[in-house]
Amino acid sequence: MDADLIKLVNKLQDTFANLGGELDMPQLAVVGSQSAGKSSVLETIVGRDFLPRGSGIVTRRPLVLQLIHTPVAETPTQTYTEWGQFLHIDKRFTDFNEIRREIEQETFRVAGQNKGISKLPIHLRIYSPNVLDLTLVDLPGLTKIPVGDQPSDIERQIRSLVLDYISKPNCVILAVSAANVDLANSEALKLARQVDPQGRRTIGVLTKLDLMDAGTNALDILTGRVYPLKLGFIGVVNRSQADINAEKSLQDALEAEAEFFRSHPAYRNIAHKNGTRYLAKTLNQVLMNHIRDKLPDMKARLNTLMGQAQQELNSFGDAAIYGDKNQQGALILRLMTQFARDFVASIEGTSVDIS
Ligand code: GDP
Ligand code: NA
Ligand code: MG
Repeated sequence: MDADLIKLVNKLQDTFANLGGELDMPQLAVVGSQSAGKSSVLETIVGRDFLPRGSGIVTRRPLVLQLIHTPVAETPTQTYTEWGQFLHIDKRFTDFNEIRREIEQETFRVAGQNKGISKLPIHLRIYSPNVLDLTLVDLPGLTKIPVGDQPSDIERQIRSLVLDYISKPNCVILAVSAANVDLANSEALKLARQVDPQGRRTIGVLTKLDLMDAGTNALDILTGRVYPLKLGFIGVVNRSQADINAEKSLQDALEAEAEFFRSHPAYRNIAHKNGTRYLAKTLNQVLMNHIRDKLPDMKARLNTLMGQAQQELNSFGDAAIYGDKNQQGALILRLMTQFARDFVASIEGTSVDIS
């Protein structure tokens, strides 16, 4: 039931995106300084290599990434296990390297060749039997100094772009900080605190635990004794640049990460509450709690939209519906109305129980 509910939310969001509209659905946005490890965290959650990564500013447009748990798909000629689909191009991507190239090309196309950023998001859906149902937003990293032909106010621009997403009360913030930088300097936490002063919808993600100075550890941070976040801090170890260069697989990386926590004298006792797998589980649970809290509000909005759609549909009249001219618009409205009605019905019959 819970998984169905989230699927429904994802579908609705997509429907609205296709109609050129927007519905304020719960999302998870990843924020942090440049090279804190945001894209690495997203990739390990998805379980595939497909995001442009590297030092410097790589993520230059928001990437709205919808993960959709799906069984293996079969067509008369092919069997698909995992694939990606963009909103801007009608094509099924089964080669994840090609997905990365498409993201790069789309970034270049809209944000230019040289380090500029754009607010225009790229929409990507990943269908896979290996993912939890989540919508994640990758955002450009927070920086201080303009590079290349970036405008002098690049810091303000990125901040404003990030705030566009994380200001929404229904955005769950993944605040990514690197463990080898003092937490007091965390841009992620600074910005998250600005929009979520009580720390109610912010999850702290601490990367690069493997890169801390010998003799130091982040136990106090991970157990919540340094910085208060209701949803806590989760430590992760992503692939290093050397791992990436050596093409270390994600699977090997996940196992190495688990072993890191199990065998580390400081983290042994909290190993079960850290690592990428635990992060993914936590995310799904937080998202479901969030949706549950928002159900009454979403229902009211949908009722309004349904009424509007119905009115517009009526104004077309039968001639328009069966004639050529507005046929498509009328059909879309009708499908949308039906969809919204089903959605509301399913909400009314649903009690989301998280235990
Ligand atoms: P982003 O700019 O925040 O998206 O960061 P990326 O995910 O692109 O990572 C930036 C660099 O840091 C890459 O070279 C990664 O390999 C490296 N990196 C990220 N996380 C970790 C980690 O947990 N440990 C180590 N050793 N390196 C990491
Ligand atoms: Na980077
Ligand atoms: Mg990135």
